[in-house]
Order: sequence, then structure tokens, then C-alpha cells
Amino acid sequence: MDKLLISGGTPLSGDLRVSGAKNAALPILAGALLSEGAVTIGNVPHLHDITTTMELLGRMGVHLVVDEKLNIEVDASTIKSFYAPYEMVKTMRASILVLGPLVARFGRAEVSLPGGCAIGTRPVNLHLQGLAAMGADISVRNGYIHATAKRLKGCRLVLDQITVTGTENLMMAAALAEGTTIIENAAREPEVVDLADFLNEMGAKVYGAGTDILEIEGVQALSGKGLHYNILPDRIESGTYLVAAAMTGGRIRLKNTRPDLLDAVLIKLREAGAHIDCGENWIELDMRGQRPKSVSLRTAPYPAFPTDMQAQFTAMNCIAEGTATITETVFENRFMHVQEMQRMGANIKLESNTAIVTGVSRLTGAPVMATDLRASASLVLAGLVAEGQTIVERIYHIDRGYECIEEKLSQLGAEIKRIPS
Ligand code: EPU
Repeated sequence: MDKLLISGGTPLSGDLRVSGAKNAALPILAGALLSEGAVTIGNVPHLHDITTTMELLGRMGVHLVVDEKLNIEVDASTIKSFYAPYEMVKTMRASILVLGPLVARFGRAEVSLPGGCAIGTRPVNLHLQGLAAMGADISVRNGYIHATAKRLKGCRLVLDQITVTGTENLMMAAALAEGTTIIENAAREPEVVDLADFLNEMGAKVYGAGTDILEIEGVQALSGKGLHYNILPDRIESGTYLVAAAMTGGRIRLKNTRPDLLDAVLIKLREAGAHIDCGENWIELDMRGQRPKSVSLRTAPYPAFPTDMQAQFTAMNCIAEGTATITETVFENRFMHVQEMQRMGANIKLESNTAIVTGVSRLTGAPVMATDLRASASLVLAGLVAEGQTIVERIYHIDRGYECIEEKLSQLGAEIKRIPS
């Protein structure tokens, strides 16, 4: 397994192009199953999770053509299997996103039930309840979800918890259902809006995306024939590099990003002492060599502070001036980076779902590893400010969600290299 070797201490400086959003690309690739004609998806990030999704679609018989810019043409007319096997779903939970499109368009699906995950139990009960309320016949046998339906019927769904992929799965199913579906307490994440825009470009009638009530008028068929749809920029990748620059006292300019999707994160970075300027598609952050000030936060669904940025802000607070409290409300076990940061000299106390972080003037390099994507990224950030060398192991988690992280950080002046296994 590859590792990253980091020598800390260099302030980051320079320009960086942000990649397309992983968490928009995954549902949109699944959403392409709904299209009667071949559809092309652009600005797709070069990530393991994308490769896994393509492998999953390919195994179903979907025809995929990838060009040198990683535009992916998806043609689902050749599909012959409606099956997502355990060995794929266990490596990527987002595989569950094929369930809604398969049942809605082809009337059947057999998808492995995702198990628990490093950050929480992460059930999919709301995906299944929603599809059942739309008339799908659902059973779970031998670890697999079996779903069949003649044609789904629109209905009113009230989600008792905000769920991103749940909202996406049900939105895709409702797009081809008979009649109108209302989804209340829907997720408002920008990636949900990107999926709705994509479906609408194919002829769907999804209204209200970005609010907590979606209205979806089902149509007979969708066609993305001739459509080229570009994925929106990755707000979490953007936020991660901004925090990296802030922690190291540096200055960076992000290009091809969307500052309007990062309000909660930018507020906290300004509170930490960063000077931030934004245009329509760029963000510039300058720390002017200053040590960040501690910032307390509480994660919650969009537009509040994202859980996917919690670990990175924990890392920043480790070396900030003062004490911060960080409360995680979305996932029950998303503090696995804490013990590794403590091994690097961080002063963190965990009390239930809150981490109390008192900044120290310096972390020290150490071999570390984590078992999820954002936690692993936060350890890279910690390594960038640590004295001496940090080795981050098990970086396949990072490769699932950050495109060429070591190249991008090197471009900003960091001393980081990949050690192949
Ligand atoms: N939940 C239920 N029942 C359900 C669905 C969700 O109880 O049927 C609970 C979950 O257990 C969790 C909460 O609802 O406590 C929110 O989970 P959600 O369903 O919103 O998470 P997700 O859709 O599985 C997506 C992202 C995650 C991100 C979360 C929260 C994708 C592919 N994944 O996951 O991204 O953390 O939303 O914003 O979009 C990441 O990129 O590192 C990542 C983990």
C-alpha cells in the first residue's frame, strides 16, 4: 500500500485548479442509467471512487467511453445485469446510488446492502422506505436488497433524517415515476442540486433543489442524447487546500471553484485570521505568515458546517492559538484522526461527540494512518506543519477522494512524496 512522506514546515504558496466534485460525480454517473441515449459527463475527477463506479456500471453491461480529458460517455442501452455485488459495494458505499435508477427504469435491482463503515453505522433505511412508499417491492435476503416494481408511483415522502444519497436515490427514482413525488426534509447539498440540474437537462421535472422540499413530476422517459454535462467543482477539496494554506501561514489562490458553496467554511477561516478574497470562480486566502486562531464549530447538513471538513479543522486547531470545541452531529464515529493527532503531540480531549482542542505551538512528525478519507487528509495537513517527517499510511483512502494530492501540494511548495508499496 502506498504511503505519503511529508516533511513539515513550508508555508504553502501558489495557484491551484480545483477538480470536479466526487460526491456530485458519483450520483450523476448513476443517474446516467436513466438516460435512453448516450450522455457525456465532463469535469470528472480522477479518483478511485470514479473508477469503482465505472467498473460497477461496466459489469452491468453499460457501455462507457473515456477520452483523454476523462470525459465519460455513458450508454445504458446495452445494460444486461441489474446487480451490484458485495465486493464492490463494500469498497464504495455510494454504489447504493444505482438502486433508485435501476428500479425506476428497468423495474428491478439486486444491490448488496452496505455494511457499517469506519465513520458510523450509516444505514440506508430511508432509501428503502422511500422506494417502498413509491410502490417498489423490497426485501433484504442474504445481505442483498432485492427490489422490483412495474412503474413506481409518485407520493409524498417525509424523510425523518436529512440524507444526501437518500435524497439523491429517491429523486432519481421519482424522475421516472407515475405522477408527482414530494420529498420533504430533503438534503440541500450543492451535489443534490447538481444531480437535479443534470436530470432536468435530460428532460426530468425536478423543482426545488437546494431547498428542503423537492417536487418531482415523473416523466415517461429521460434522454441525455447529445448532452455534455460538467460536474460542479469540489467544495470539500477546495476547503481542504484552504485549510492547508491557513495552517501553514501561507497564501493560495484556488481556480475553478465555487466560493458561494463554501460560506460556512470561509466564515470559520476568516475567524481563524485568514484574509480571503473571492470572485465568481476563484478564492484567494492569505494568512500573512500568522498562526491561526482557534475556531469552534458544529457540523450539520448544508448550508451549515460540513462534516466532510471537520477533520481538517481539527488539524488546524491542533496548532492554533487558543482552545476550540468541535462537535460532530452527522456521524457517530468521525473522530478517528484524534488519536493519531495525539501521537503527533496534539492536545485533544474527546467528550462524547465533542473534541476539545487546545492548540500547541508545534506538532512532531510520526507514522500515522486513518481509516477514512477525510481523516486521512487531515493527517496530511497535520504533517505539513509538523516538525520532522510524517508518514501517512493507507493512503488508498485519500486516493478515493483527492485527485493527485501529493502533486497538488508539491505544486504549492510542500515537501511531500508518494512511496509506492
Ligand atoms: N442515515 C440514516 N438512514 C438513512 C440514510 C442516512 O439514518 O437511510 C443517517 C446516517 O447514518 C448519517 C446521516 O443520516 O448519520 C447522514 O448521512 P447521509 O445519508 O447524508 O450520508 P451519505 O449520503 O451516506 C454523503 C456523502 C458523505 C458525506 C455525507 C454527509 C456521498 C457519496 N457521500 O454520504 O461524504 O459525509 O453525505 O454530508 O455523497 C466523504 O466524501 O468523505 C463522505 C463521507
